[in-house]
Amino acid sequence: ISETQKVHPEELHIGGVSARALAEKYGTPLYVMDEEAIRQRMREFKYAMGKSSLATDVLYASKAFLTLAMVKIIQEEDLSLDVVSGGELYTALAAGFDPSRIYFHGNNKSPEELEYALASGVGTIIVDNEDEVERMESLWTPSNGPQSIILRVNPGIEAHTHEYISTTKNDSKFGLSIFQEETLLLLQRLQEDPRFSLQGIHCHIGSQIFEKSSFFAAAEEMLQYVAKLYSQGVVIRTLNLGGGFGVRYVEGDEPVSPEDFLPELLKIVENRCQELGIPPLKILIEPGRAIVANAGTTLYRVGGTKTTFGGKNYVFVDGSMADHIRTVLYGAEYEAVLAERMTELPEETYTITGKACESGDILVREARLPKPRKGEILAILSTGAYHYSMASNYNRLPKPAVVMVREGKSRLVVKRETYEDLIRQDVEEEYEA
Ligand code: LLP
Repeated sequence: ISETQKVHPEELHIGGVSARALAEKYGTPLYVMDEEAIRQRMREFKYAMGKSSLATDVLYASKAFLTLAMVKIIQEEDLSLDVVSGGELYTALAAGFDPSRIYFHGNNKSPEELEYALASGVGTIIVDNEDEVERMESLWTPSNGPQSIILRVNPGIEAHTHEYISTTKNDSKFGLSIFQEETLLLLQRLQEDPRFSLQGIHCHIGSQIFEKSSFFAAAEEMLQYVAKLYSQGVVIRTLNLGGGFGVRYVEGDEPVSPEDFLPELLKIVENRCQELGIPPLKILIEPGRAIVANAGTTLYRVGGTKTTFGGKNYVFVDGSMADHIRTVLYGAEYEAVLAERMTELPEETYTITGKACESGDILVREARLPKPRKGEILAILSTGAYHYSMASNYNRLPKPAVVMVREGKSRLVVKRETYEDLIRQDVEEEYEA
Protein backbone atom coordinates (compact mmCIF):
# COMPACT_ATOMS: atom_id res chain seq x y z
CA ILE A 1 0.00 0.00 0.00
CA SER A 2 1.43 3.35 -1.09
CA GLU A 3 1.84 6.44 1.12
CA THR A 4 -0.94 8.32 -0.68
CA GLN A 5 -3.23 5.35 -0.15
CA LYS A 6 -2.44 5.41 3.58
CA VAL A 7 -3.30 9.11 3.82
CA HIS A 8 -6.57 8.62 1.93
CA PRO A 9 -7.61 5.04 2.61
CA GLU A 10 -11.12 5.74 1.34
CA GLU A 11 -9.85 6.65 -2.13
CA LEU A 12 -8.14 4.23 -4.50
CA HIS A 13 -4.69 5.41 -5.54
CA ILE A 14 -2.60 3.76 -8.23
CA GLY A 15 1.07 4.69 -8.45
CA GLY A 16 0.32 7.59 -6.15
CA VAL A 17 -2.44 9.02 -8.36
CA SER A 18 -6.08 8.92 -7.31
CA ALA A 19 -8.45 6.91 -9.47
CA ARG A 20 -10.81 9.89 -9.46
CA ALA A 21 -8.15 12.20 -10.91
CA LEU A 22 -7.32 9.64 -13.60
CA ALA A 23 -10.95 9.12 -14.56
CA GLU A 24 -11.49 12.88 -14.75
CA LYS A 25 -8.38 13.49 -16.81
CA TYR A 26 -8.59 10.59 -19.28
CA GLY A 27 -12.23 9.45 -19.15
CA THR A 28 -13.54 5.93 -18.62
CA PRO A 29 -13.30 3.03 -19.25
CA LEU A 30 -9.60 3.39 -18.63
CA TYR A 31 -6.77 0.89 -18.33
CA VAL A 32 -4.27 2.07 -15.73
CA MET A 33 -0.85 0.44 -15.49
CA ASP A 34 1.41 0.98 -12.48
CA GLU A 35 4.83 1.33 -14.07
CA GLU A 36 6.77 0.83 -10.86
CA ALA A 37 4.91 -2.41 -10.17
CA ILE A 38 5.76 -3.70 -13.66
CA ARG A 39 9.43 -2.83 -13.24
CA GLN A 40 9.48 -4.36 -9.78
CA ARG A 41 8.17 -7.69 -11.05
CA MET A 42 10.67 -7.70 -13.90
CA ARG A 43 13.48 -7.17 -11.40
CA GLU A 44 12.16 -9.92 -9.15
CA PHE A 45 12.18 -12.39 -12.02
CA LYS A 46 15.63 -11.35 -13.17
CA TYR A 47 17.01 -11.49 -9.64
CA ALA A 48 15.51 -14.92 -8.97
CA MET A 49 16.95 -16.28 -12.22
CA GLY A 50 20.30 -14.56 -11.72
CA LYS A 51 21.03 -16.43 -8.49
CA SER A 52 21.87 -19.59 -10.40
CA SER A 53 25.27 -20.53 -11.74
CA LEU A 54 23.52 -21.52 -14.98
CA ALA A 55 23.22 -18.95 -17.75
CA THR A 56 19.65 -17.61 -17.76
CA ASP A 57 17.43 -15.05 -19.42
CA VAL A 58 13.91 -13.75 -18.81
CA LEU A 59 11.74 -13.19 -21.89
CA TYR A 60 8.66 -11.07 -21.38
CA ALA A 61 5.66 -12.63 -23.18
CA SER A 62 4.31 -9.72 -25.25
CA LYS A 63 0.87 -11.21 -25.66
CA ALA A 64 -0.04 -10.31 -22.09
CA PHE A 65 0.27 -6.56 -22.75
CA LEU A 66 2.31 -4.70 -25.34
CA THR A 67 2.53 -1.07 -26.38
CA LEU A 68 5.44 1.10 -27.49
CA ALA A 69 5.84 2.42 -23.93
CA MET A 70 5.87 -1.13 -22.58
CA VAL A 71 8.60 -2.14 -25.04
CA LYS A 72 10.79 0.70 -23.73
CA ILE A 73 10.34 -0.55 -20.17
CA ILE A 74 11.27 -4.10 -21.16
CA GLN A 75 14.38 -2.79 -22.88
CA GLU A 76 15.35 -0.60 -19.91
CA GLU A 77 14.87 -3.48 -17.48
CA ASP A 78 17.10 -5.63 -19.69
CA LEU A 79 14.65 -8.41 -20.47
CA SER A 80 14.37 -10.28 -23.75
CA LEU A 81 11.11 -10.43 -25.64
CA ASP A 82 8.80 -13.19 -26.81
CA VAL A 83 6.60 -12.18 -29.76
CA VAL A 84 4.04 -14.36 -31.53
CA SER A 85 3.04 -12.36 -34.57
CA GLY A 86 4.20 -9.87 -37.14
CA GLY A 87 2.21 -7.26 -35.23
CA GLU A 88 4.00 -7.84 -31.94
CA LEU A 89 7.31 -7.90 -33.79
CA TYR A 90 6.47 -4.65 -35.54
CA THR A 91 5.59 -3.00 -32.22
CA ALA A 92 8.86 -4.13 -30.65
CA LEU A 93 10.97 -2.94 -33.59
CA ALA A 94 9.06 0.34 -33.89
CA ALA A 95 10.00 1.08 -30.28
CA GLY A 96 13.64 0.34 -31.04
CA PHE A 97 13.94 -3.03 -29.33
CA ASP A 98 17.16 -4.92 -30.03
CA PRO A 99 16.10 -7.60 -32.57
CA SER A 100 18.79 -9.99 -31.41
CA ARG A 101 16.91 -10.31 -28.10
CA ILE A 102 13.61 -11.19 -29.74
CA TYR A 103 12.25 -14.75 -29.78
CA PHE A 104 9.57 -15.32 -32.40
CA HIS A 105 6.93 -17.87 -31.38
CA GLY A 106 3.75 -19.18 -32.98
CA ASN A 107 2.41 -22.43 -34.39
CA ASN A 108 1.62 -21.14 -37.87
CA LYS A 109 3.82 -18.21 -38.77
CA SER A 110 3.01 -17.00 -42.25
CA PRO A 111 5.63 -16.73 -44.99
CA GLU A 112 5.37 -12.93 -44.68
CA GLU A 113 5.96 -13.07 -40.94
CA LEU A 114 8.95 -15.38 -41.31
CA GLU A 115 10.44 -13.25 -44.04
CA TYR A 116 9.96 -10.16 -41.88
CA ALA A 117 11.64 -11.91 -38.93
CA LEU A 118 14.58 -13.09 -41.01
CA ALA A 119 15.03 -9.68 -42.63
CA SER A 120 14.90 -7.82 -39.30
CA GLY A 121 17.53 -10.00 -37.69
CA VAL A 122 15.28 -11.57 -35.07
CA GLY A 123 17.62 -13.39 -32.70
CA THR A 124 15.77 -16.65 -32.34
CA ILE A 125 12.86 -18.23 -34.15
CA ILE A 126 10.96 -20.78 -32.10
CA VAL A 127 9.79 -23.31 -34.65
CA ASP A 128 6.63 -25.28 -33.98
CA ASN A 129 6.52 -27.96 -36.67
CA GLU A 130 7.92 -29.34 -39.88
CA ASP A 131 5.83 -27.14 -42.17
CA GLU A 132 7.37 -24.08 -40.55
CA VAL A 133 10.84 -25.53 -41.03
CA GLU A 134 10.08 -25.99 -44.72
CA ARG A 135 8.74 -22.45 -44.99
CA MET A 136 11.92 -21.15 -43.41
CA GLU A 137 14.13 -23.24 -45.64
CA SER A 138 12.49 -21.76 -48.71
CA LEU A 139 12.71 -18.17 -47.42
CA TRP A 140 16.24 -18.25 -46.08
CA THR A 141 18.91 -16.44 -48.07
CA PRO A 142 22.68 -16.44 -47.44
CA SER A 143 22.47 -12.82 -46.29
CA ASN A 144 20.42 -14.02 -43.32
CA GLY A 145 23.36 -16.05 -42.00
CA PRO A 146 22.69 -19.12 -39.89
CA GLN A 147 19.36 -18.44 -38.15
CA SER A 148 19.22 -19.43 -34.48
CA ILE A 149 16.24 -21.62 -33.80
CA ILE A 150 14.59 -23.43 -30.93
CA LEU A 151 12.09 -26.23 -31.49
CA ARG A 152 8.90 -26.17 -29.46
CA VAL A 153 8.19 -29.61 -28.07
CA ASN A 154 5.41 -31.02 -25.98
CA PRO A 155 6.36 -32.99 -22.87
CA GLY A 156 2.75 -34.10 -22.26
CA ILE A 157 2.41 -32.54 -18.81
CA GLU A 158 -1.15 -31.85 -17.67
CA ALA A 159 -1.06 -28.63 -15.70
CA HIS A 160 -4.12 -27.85 -13.63
CA THR A 161 -5.61 -24.78 -15.21
CA HIS A 162 -8.42 -23.80 -17.55
CA GLU A 163 -8.68 -26.02 -20.62
CA TYR A 164 -8.34 -23.07 -23.03
CA ILE A 165 -5.00 -22.05 -21.56
CA SER A 166 -3.48 -25.44 -20.85
CA THR A 167 -1.10 -26.13 -23.70
CA THR A 168 0.86 -29.34 -23.41
CA LYS A 169 -1.63 -32.12 -23.09
CA ASN A 170 -0.75 -34.81 -25.62
CA ASP A 171 -3.29 -33.58 -28.15
CA SER A 172 -2.41 -29.88 -27.88
CA LYS A 173 -1.93 -27.99 -31.14
CA PHE A 174 1.42 -26.64 -29.95
CA GLY A 175 4.82 -28.14 -30.57
CA LEU A 176 5.86 -31.69 -31.39
CA SER A 177 5.60 -34.50 -28.89
CA ILE A 178 8.81 -35.71 -27.31
CA PHE A 179 7.27 -39.17 -27.50
CA GLN A 180 7.20 -39.21 -31.31
CA GLU A 181 10.16 -40.42 -33.33
CA GLU A 182 9.58 -37.73 -35.98
CA THR A 183 10.52 -35.05 -33.46
CA LEU A 184 13.96 -36.54 -32.95
CA LEU A 185 14.42 -36.90 -36.71
CA LEU A 186 13.47 -33.26 -37.24
CA LEU A 187 15.93 -32.13 -34.57
CA GLN A 188 18.69 -34.16 -36.24
CA ARG A 189 17.83 -32.58 -39.58
CA LEU A 190 17.84 -29.07 -38.07
CA GLN A 191 21.20 -29.65 -36.44
CA GLU A 192 22.76 -30.68 -39.73
CA ASP A 193 21.27 -27.87 -41.81
CA PRO A 194 23.88 -25.08 -42.22
CA ARG A 195 21.09 -22.52 -42.73
CA PHE A 196 20.12 -22.97 -39.09
CA SER A 197 21.85 -22.94 -35.76
CA LEU A 198 19.84 -25.19 -33.49
CA GLN A 199 19.99 -23.73 -29.96
CA GLY A 200 17.62 -25.91 -28.07
CA ILE A 201 14.08 -26.88 -27.21
CA HIS A 202 11.12 -25.11 -25.68
CA CYS A 203 8.00 -26.08 -23.79
CA HIS A 204 5.17 -24.11 -22.21
CA ILE A 205 2.79 -26.14 -20.09
CA GLY A 206 -0.05 -23.66 -19.72
CA SER A 207 -0.98 -20.42 -18.04
CA GLN A 208 -2.08 -19.32 -14.56
CA ILE A 209 -0.40 -22.35 -12.96
CA PHE A 210 -0.13 -22.38 -9.18
CA GLU A 211 1.78 -25.53 -8.27
CA LYS A 212 5.51 -25.85 -8.51
CA SER A 213 5.08 -29.55 -9.16
CA SER A 214 3.84 -28.98 -12.73
CA PHE A 215 6.92 -26.92 -13.58
CA PHE A 216 9.23 -29.43 -11.91
CA ALA A 217 7.59 -32.29 -13.80
CA ALA A 218 7.97 -30.45 -17.10
CA ALA A 219 11.62 -29.64 -16.40
CA GLU A 220 12.34 -33.27 -15.52
CA GLU A 221 10.71 -34.56 -18.74
CA MET A 222 12.60 -31.99 -20.79
CA LEU A 223 15.95 -32.82 -19.19
CA GLN A 224 15.49 -36.50 -19.80
CA TYR A 225 14.68 -35.68 -23.38
CA VAL A 226 17.80 -33.51 -23.68
CA ALA A 227 19.83 -36.47 -22.40
CA LYS A 228 18.20 -38.74 -24.94
CA LEU A 229 18.93 -36.24 -27.70
CA TYR A 230 22.60 -36.11 -26.66
CA SER A 231 22.81 -39.86 -26.94
CA GLN A 232 21.48 -39.51 -30.49
CA GLY A 233 23.99 -36.82 -31.40
CA VAL A 234 21.74 -33.77 -31.04
CA VAL A 235 23.38 -31.05 -28.95
CA ILE A 236 20.99 -28.88 -26.93
CA ARG A 237 22.41 -25.74 -25.33
CA THR A 238 19.24 -23.87 -24.37
CA LEU A 239 16.18 -25.04 -22.54
CA ASN A 240 13.22 -22.67 -22.63
CA LEU A 241 10.68 -23.61 -19.99
CA GLY A 242 8.01 -21.12 -21.07
CA GLY A 243 5.78 -18.96 -18.89
CA GLY A 244 2.55 -19.65 -17.09
CA PHE A 245 3.37 -18.49 -13.56
CA GLY A 246 0.08 -17.90 -11.78
CA VAL A 247 -1.00 -14.67 -10.12
CA ARG A 248 -3.44 -13.74 -7.38
CA TYR A 249 -6.72 -12.39 -8.75
CA VAL A 250 -8.94 -12.95 -5.71
CA GLU A 251 -8.57 -13.92 -2.08
CA GLY A 252 -7.73 -17.59 -1.85
CA ASP A 253 -5.54 -17.61 -4.97
CA GLU A 254 -2.13 -18.70 -3.78
CA PRO A 255 0.39 -18.74 -6.59
CA VAL A 256 4.00 -19.71 -6.01
CA SER A 257 6.27 -16.69 -5.89
CA PRO A 258 9.12 -16.59 -8.41
CA GLU A 259 11.57 -15.58 -5.69
CA ASP A 260 11.04 -18.85 -3.88
CA PHE A 261 10.47 -21.16 -6.70
CA LEU A 262 12.80 -20.21 -9.55
CA PRO A 263 16.06 -20.66 -7.62
CA GLU A 264 14.74 -24.07 -6.53
CA LEU A 265 13.88 -24.98 -10.12
CA LEU A 266 17.29 -23.90 -11.37
CA LYS A 267 19.03 -25.87 -8.64
CA ILE A 268 17.14 -28.98 -9.69
CA VAL A 269 18.05 -28.39 -13.33
CA GLU A 270 21.70 -27.90 -12.43
CA ASN A 271 21.83 -31.11 -10.39
CA ARG A 272 19.96 -33.14 -12.96
CA CYS A 273 22.27 -31.95 -15.74
CA GLN A 274 25.18 -33.36 -13.74
CA GLU A 275 23.40 -36.61 -12.95
CA LEU A 276 22.33 -37.11 -16.54
CA GLY A 277 25.79 -36.23 -17.85
CA ILE A 278 24.71 -33.27 -19.97
CA PRO A 279 26.63 -29.97 -20.10
CA PRO A 280 25.01 -27.08 -18.17
CA LEU A 281 22.13 -25.62 -20.12
CA LYS A 282 21.08 -22.02 -20.59
CA ILE A 283 17.61 -21.67 -19.06
CA LEU A 284 14.98 -19.30 -20.41
CA ILE A 285 11.58 -18.46 -18.98
CA GLU A 286 8.74 -16.43 -20.55
CA PRO A 287 6.47 -14.82 -17.95
CA GLY A 288 3.69 -12.59 -19.26
CA ARG A 289 0.82 -12.52 -16.80
CA ALA A 290 3.07 -12.62 -13.72
CA ILE A 291 4.76 -9.38 -14.84
CA VAL A 292 1.72 -7.26 -15.63
CA ALA A 293 -1.53 -8.71 -14.24
CA ASN A 294 -1.43 -7.15 -10.78
CA ALA A 295 -0.02 -3.89 -12.12
CA GLY A 296 -3.24 -3.16 -14.04
CA THR A 297 -6.55 -1.67 -12.94
CA THR A 298 -9.54 -0.85 -15.11
CA LEU A 299 -11.62 2.18 -14.15
CA TYR A 300 -15.28 2.44 -15.12
CA ARG A 301 -18.17 4.80 -14.35
CA VAL A 302 -21.31 3.38 -12.86
CA GLY A 303 -24.37 3.98 -15.03
CA GLY A 304 -26.88 2.60 -12.55
CA THR A 305 -28.13 -0.51 -10.81
CA LYS A 306 -31.02 -2.88 -11.38
CA THR A 307 -32.59 -5.59 -9.26
CA THR A 308 -34.39 -8.19 -11.32
CA PHE A 309 -37.73 -9.79 -10.48
CA GLY A 310 -35.65 -12.85 -9.62
CA GLY A 311 -33.74 -10.81 -7.04
CA LYS A 312 -30.42 -10.48 -8.83
CA ASN A 313 -28.53 -7.21 -8.36
CA TYR A 314 -26.77 -5.76 -11.36
CA VAL A 315 -24.47 -2.79 -11.51
CA PHE A 316 -24.01 -1.36 -15.00
CA VAL A 317 -20.63 0.09 -15.97
CA ASP A 318 -19.56 1.96 -19.09
CA GLY A 319 -17.28 -0.85 -20.32
CA SER A 320 -18.07 -4.39 -21.38
CA MET A 321 -16.75 -7.79 -22.36
CA ALA A 322 -15.10 -5.94 -25.24
CA ASP A 323 -12.53 -4.53 -22.79
CA HIS A 324 -12.81 -7.35 -20.24
CA ILE A 325 -13.22 -10.76 -21.90
CA ARG A 326 -11.60 -13.07 -19.34
CA THR A 327 -14.64 -13.52 -17.10
CA VAL A 328 -16.88 -14.78 -19.86
CA LEU A 329 -14.15 -16.64 -21.70
CA TYR A 330 -12.49 -18.47 -18.81
CA GLY A 331 -14.83 -17.97 -15.87
CA ALA A 332 -12.08 -15.79 -14.39
CA GLU A 333 -12.69 -14.03 -11.07
CA TYR A 334 -11.80 -10.49 -10.07
CA GLU A 335 -12.05 -8.12 -7.14
CA ALA A 336 -13.89 -4.85 -7.65
CA VAL A 337 -14.05 -1.73 -5.49
CA LEU A 338 -15.87 1.57 -5.49
CA ALA A 339 -12.85 3.78 -5.96
CA GLU A 340 -13.99 6.65 -3.74
CA ARG A 341 -15.55 4.57 -0.95
CA MET A 342 -12.93 1.95 -0.27
CA THR A 343 -13.47 1.91 3.47
CA GLU A 344 -17.26 1.53 3.41
CA LEU A 345 -18.59 -1.89 4.26
CA PRO A 346 -20.21 -3.88 1.46
CA GLU A 347 -23.99 -4.18 1.60
CA GLU A 348 -24.93 -6.50 -1.22
CA THR A 349 -23.61 -8.88 -3.81
CA TYR A 350 -23.66 -7.41 -7.31
CA THR A 351 -23.03 -8.78 -10.75
CA ILE A 352 -20.98 -6.23 -12.64
CA THR A 353 -22.12 -6.04 -16.22
CA GLY A 354 -21.38 -3.73 -19.10
CA LYS A 355 -23.09 -2.30 -22.11
CA ALA A 356 -22.55 -5.07 -24.65
CA CYS A 357 -25.65 -6.59 -26.18
CA GLU A 358 -25.56 -10.04 -24.73
CA SER A 359 -26.40 -11.68 -21.43
CA GLY A 360 -22.92 -13.15 -21.20
CA ASP A 361 -21.50 -9.65 -20.85
CA ILE A 362 -20.29 -10.13 -17.30
CA LEU A 363 -17.19 -8.51 -15.86
CA VAL A 364 -17.45 -9.77 -12.28
CA ARG A 365 -19.94 -12.46 -11.37
CA GLU A 366 -20.18 -11.69 -7.68
CA ALA A 367 -18.81 -8.50 -6.15
CA ARG A 368 -19.51 -7.47 -2.57
CA LEU A 369 -20.02 -3.68 -2.67
CA PRO A 370 -21.74 -0.79 -0.91
CA LYS A 371 -24.73 0.26 -3.02
CA PRO A 372 -23.14 1.81 -6.15
CA ARG A 373 -24.21 5.36 -7.00
CA LYS A 374 -24.75 6.66 -10.51
CA GLY A 375 -21.62 8.32 -11.87
CA GLU A 376 -19.14 7.02 -9.33
CA ILE A 377 -15.97 5.16 -10.25
CA LEU A 378 -15.80 1.41 -10.03
CA ALA A 379 -12.39 -0.24 -10.34
CA ILE A 380 -11.68 -3.83 -11.30
CA LEU A 381 -8.31 -4.93 -9.98
CA SER A 382 -5.53 -7.05 -11.49
CA THR A 383 -6.52 -6.46 -15.10
CA GLY A 384 -3.03 -5.78 -16.46
CA ALA A 385 -2.63 -9.04 -18.39
CA TYR A 386 -4.76 -10.14 -21.35
CA HIS A 387 -7.20 -7.25 -21.06
CA TYR A 388 -5.95 -4.47 -23.28
CA SER A 389 -4.32 -7.13 -25.47
CA MET A 390 -7.57 -9.08 -25.87
CA ALA A 391 -9.87 -6.07 -26.24
CA SER A 392 -12.20 -5.99 -29.23
CA ASN A 393 -14.56 -3.55 -30.91
CA TYR A 394 -17.66 -5.68 -30.36
CA ASN A 395 -20.78 -3.52 -30.75
CA ARG A 396 -18.47 -0.95 -32.32
CA LEU A 397 -17.27 0.09 -28.91
CA PRO A 398 -14.06 2.14 -29.12
CA LYS A 399 -11.18 0.61 -27.16
CA PRO A 400 -10.29 2.41 -23.92
CA ALA A 401 -7.16 4.49 -23.44
CA VAL A 402 -4.18 3.11 -21.54
CA VAL A 403 -2.27 5.27 -19.06
CA MET A 404 0.79 4.57 -16.99
CA VAL A 405 1.20 5.98 -13.50
CA ARG A 406 4.36 6.40 -11.48
CA GLU A 407 5.37 8.43 -8.44
CA GLY A 408 2.20 10.46 -8.34
CA LYS A 409 2.21 11.29 -12.06
CA SER A 410 0.41 9.87 -15.08
CA ARG A 411 1.06 9.64 -18.81
CA LEU A 412 -1.06 8.51 -21.73
CA VAL A 413 0.44 5.52 -23.56
CA VAL A 414 -2.46 4.54 -25.83
CA LYS A 415 -5.09 7.05 -26.92
CA ARG A 416 -8.75 6.19 -26.55
CA GLU A 417 -10.22 5.11 -29.87
CA THR A 418 -12.64 7.51 -31.49
CA TYR A 419 -15.69 6.82 -33.63
CA GLU A 420 -13.58 7.90 -36.61
CA ASP A 421 -11.05 5.20 -35.72
CA LEU A 422 -13.85 2.66 -35.91
CA ILE A 423 -14.51 3.39 -39.56
CA ARG A 424 -10.94 4.17 -40.59
CA GLN A 425 -10.46 0.85 -42.39
CA ASP A 426 -13.97 0.70 -43.87
CA VAL A 427 -14.18 1.29 -47.61
CA GLU A 428 -17.07 1.57 -50.04
CA GLU A 429 -15.93 -0.09 -53.22
CA GLU A 430 -17.94 -1.24 -56.21
CA TYR A 431 -17.89 -4.95 -57.09
CA GLU A 432 -15.18 -5.79 -59.57
CA ALA A 433 -14.86 -8.84 -61.75
N1 LLP B 1 5.15 -18.57 -23.56
C1 LLP B 1 4.32 -19.20 -24.40
C2 LLP B 1 4.83 -20.07 -25.44
C3 LLP B 1 2.93 -19.01 -24.26
O1 LLP B 1 2.11 -19.65 -25.08
C4 LLP B 1 2.45 -18.14 -23.26
C5 LLP B 1 1.01 -17.92 -23.09
C6 LLP B 1 3.37 -17.49 -22.41
C7 LLP B 1 4.73 -17.74 -22.60
C8 LLP B 1 2.96 -16.54 -21.33
O2 LLP B 1 2.14 -17.16 -20.39
P1 LLP B 1 1.82 -16.38 -19.01
O3 LLP B 1 3.10 -16.26 -18.25
O4 LLP B 1 1.27 -15.06 -19.35
O5 LLP B 1 0.84 -17.24 -18.34
N2 LLP B 1 -5.41 -15.33 -22.87
C9 LLP B 1 -5.21 -16.24 -21.76
C10 LLP B 1 -3.77 -16.65 -21.62
C11 LLP B 1 -3.24 -17.32 -22.85
C12 LLP B 1 -1.79 -17.65 -22.69
C13 LLP B 1 -1.24 -18.21 -23.93
N3 LLP B 1 0.16 -18.41 -23.88
C14 LLP B 1 -5.72 -15.59 -20.48
O6 LLP B 1 -6.21 -14.47 -20.53
O7 LLP B 1 -5.66 -16.20 -19.42
